[in-house]
Amino acid sequence: MVISTSEPNGSTHVNGSAHVNGTHRCVADGTLDITVMGMNSGMAMDGIDCTLVHYRQASPEAPLHMEILRVQRLSKTSCDSTSGLTNHHDTVRRDPCSQDIKKTILTMLRETRTTPSLMSQLNVQLGSMFGETVKLFCEKHNVPMDSIDLIGSHRQTIWLLSMPEAGETRYAFCLGEGTVMSGLTHITTVTDFRMAEQAVGRQGAPLVALIDGLLLRHPTEWRICQNIGGIANLCVIPPDSEGGVDAMVDWDCGPGSMFIDAAMRCFTNGEMEYDRDGEWGAQGTINQAVVDKFLDNNKYCNHLPPKTTGRETFGDNVAQEIIDECLALGMSKYDTVATITRITAQNIVKQYRTFFPKFNIDIEKIAGFYMCGGGARNPNIIKYLKAQLPNSKILKLDETGVPSDAKEAVSFAQQALEAILGRAALVPINSDTLTPNAISGKIAPGLRWREVMAMAVEFGKGQDRLPTVKEMVIDRPYTDWKP
Ligand SMILES: Nc1ncnc2c1ncn2[C@@H]1O[C@H](COP(=O)(O)OP(=O)(O)O)[C@@H](O)[C@H]1O
Ligand SMILES: [Mg+2]
Repeated sequence: MVISTSEPNGSTHVNGSAHVNGTHRCVADGTLDITVMGMNSGMAMDGIDCTLVHYRQASPEAPLHMEILRVQRLSKTSCDSTSGLTNHHDTVRRDPCSQDIKKTILTMLRETRTTPSLMSQLNVQLGSMFGETVKLFCEKHNVPMDSIDLIGSHRQTIWLLSMPEAGETRYAFCLGEGTVMSGLTHITTVTDFRMAEQAVGRQGAPLVALIDGLLLRHPTEWRICQNIGGIANLCVIPPDSEGGVDAMVDWDCGPGSMFIDAAMRCFTNGEMEYDRDGEWGAQGTINQAVVDKFLDNNKYCNHLPPKTTGRETFGDNVAQEIIDECLALGMSKYDTVATITRITAQNIVKQYRTFFPKFNIDIEKIAGFYMCGGGARNPNIIKYLKAQLPNSKILKLDETGVPSDAKEAVSFAQQALEAILGRAALVPINSDTLTPNAISGKIAPGLRWREVMAMAVEFGKGQDRLPTVKEMVIDRPYTDWKP
């Protein structure tokens, strides 16, 4: 296992809540002071992103303060070019990102066939994997498990049906049982952030506006957060003067790195899982006709937002069809990867050009495109975006003080926090319904549950509803301590 890690000044920094006689305690004094582990394994299934975040808030009306204490991606085939610790012993002893589980899931999705027994076992295996990852994280960083008050885990998305046709039921099916995690770690664990959103009539995804808005809101600038994970998604944050976080728009663009990863696995017999730094794509010639044909005909890419998607629409089977088409045209593996990469990049720009006018968003007014997700490390994608948007600033989300690879993990830390506080999150205005955000998340209590609850209850005591957080202060930006 390769572990890519970034730490502030290399020392152990256990911060957050009160330590009484060496024992960690949450204090129920009417303020919020809590340390939360956010975890995400995205559609790309490339690893588990973990972030330890310390939140403080003096009162429900005050800004929410956050400080990232630790960031780490646990992955057997690390996608992070700034590789940190390497510990082969751990690979053998305990592999939290088991390739076997990934292969099982990919096969199941490709064949769209499974059994109740396999699903049940995967749920527990993934729950154990996430729980073990917390333990490994704590060992690596010398962080006492007891210092973590709460875990927010997205779990592993298996299948998402966010836009059901007549007769279908909307769902977001994720595996990685939270009770297994809390049982293994003894830490209160919140999972399942999408279904309550779907229950009130929204799609339950991308679910990034709450963090994108808090990170990027600005008094006068229009900003966009562009994530390129397995799936690409975007969030537009208007300036405060034009509605700000109360007027955000978001949707899933379509394929991110998922097709590229599928092509790499196909051409290397599973030896390479992604096109590191776009090396293969850069060697090939793009077949523009293949790109245009796919983007012109793909139903999802041409669908008016709101929309969200996943492997059920852009999985390995679809990738294989494009690969087969390229090979039938006599294209090389490099040409094929170059062409597939262009599908991702061109579709992102297509989303801007086609749909921004529908929401009265003027692309020329966007002051900054803040890139995040592993696909933003692919220079072939970024080069294309820069060429297509010559008047725009293409930046990394790191500029906000949160590492661009950790944003989703941070978002699940915050969603866990909102769940235990019973506090609603921001809702984008292009959602299917503007019903206020349901309090999302399923709680599996840990050993210190009553203590965490006591703090949550004292915070804003006497108020039926706590106001949605609209202002966040990053106390110690990642840019101050990143290596
Ligand atoms: N250095 C890199 N060069 C090119 N692509 C990269 C690089 N690092 C990561 N990626 C791509 O990013 C993907 C993972 O991105 P991530 O944001 O973690 O997606 P998800 O949230 O779906 O897991 C990988 O599958 C890989 O394709
Ligand atoms: Mg990932």
